[in-house]
Amino acid sequence: MSGIVFMKTKNLEKVSNFYQHKIGMKLWQDQGKCKIFEKGNLQLGFCHANTIDNEGIITFYFKDKKEVDKFYEKISNDIEITKEPQENEDFDIYQFFAKDPEGRTLEFQSFLHKLNPHLTGKELLLKRRSYRDFEDEEISKEILNKVIELSRFAPTSMNSQSYYFKFITEKELICDLASIRKTASEPIKKAPMAVAICSDNEQSNRYKQDADIAAYHFMLAARLYDLGTCWIADMNRESIKRKLDIPLEHYIATITPLGFIKNEIEAPERKQRDKYIKDF
Ligand SMILES: Cc1cc2nc3c(=O)[nH]c(=O)nc-3n(C[C@H](O)[C@H](O)[C@H](O)COP(=O)(O)O)c2cc1C
Repeated sequence: MSGIVFMKTKNLEKVSNFYQHKIGMKLWQDQGKCKIFEKGNLQLGFCHANTIDNEGIITFYFKDKKEVDKFYEKISNDIEITKEPQENEDFDIYQFFAKDPEGRTLEFQSFLHKLNPHLTGKELLLKRRSYRDFEDEEISKEILNKVIELSRFAPTSMNSQSYYFKFITEKELICDLASIRKTASEPIKKAPMAVAICSDNEQSNRYKQDADIAAYHFMLAARLYDLGTCWIADMNRESIKRKLDIPLEHYIATITPLGFIKNEIEAPERKQRDKYIKDF
């Protein structure tokens, strides 16, 4: 199930302009009398009426304080600010308040603690990056289990589920793995943990594809929990299997570093959409 919060407005055009052009929401559905906007996981509907709904608070949240400040800089001259950015210890958040053109209270904040997953499918696909720098913070077993739980839904040939994950936390071993392909494998040593994503040749004829896809599934699942990964290629080597106690016939799709993301990074430039398409 998903949801929308609807509110009455006396000036649909003005409110639409405000939420689209000042706040940066996208028009999701135009129903004429009602328009529904979205930003991240928030969907807000405004419907033309003779009264205004302006109770409650509409809260937008950002990844961190820096993002809140950046947004404040961008809009503070354009909209009515009612409270400057500051920390609120009661809720462990950083916030500022403003008003929309019909007097609704808007809150812009970041949580100062870890969050449960909140990215939409679209955000997840857009925000997955190859991360090469990480926080030192340890990753709890609880979070790792949640990532594995989601990774289990990767497709496999004939549902063979021939893949498995090997977690590596021993610092010396991490440094050793990181040195194998020089700069190409260096990101491994920046994270508190590395994960070898492998498959068993005896469980499927397509064990290599199973592990490759499972690795990507794992990377997406990890990103939901603010964990960064980076595909390190060419790790399916006998020498590595010996170090990691992996049977030589098994396949290593990749060994990825795994750690909490230090900084969001921009996507490297992509080709134009039509360059990916043949005979469309
Ligand atoms: C098959 C494959 C091999 C890759 N090998 C490496 C690698 O050995 N080392 C590395 O740092 N990044 C590696 N990458 C990450 C790419 O550099 C990265 O995906 C690409 O630059 C696009 O950036 P993005 O993943 O942030 O969108 C690899 C990615 C793929 C899919």
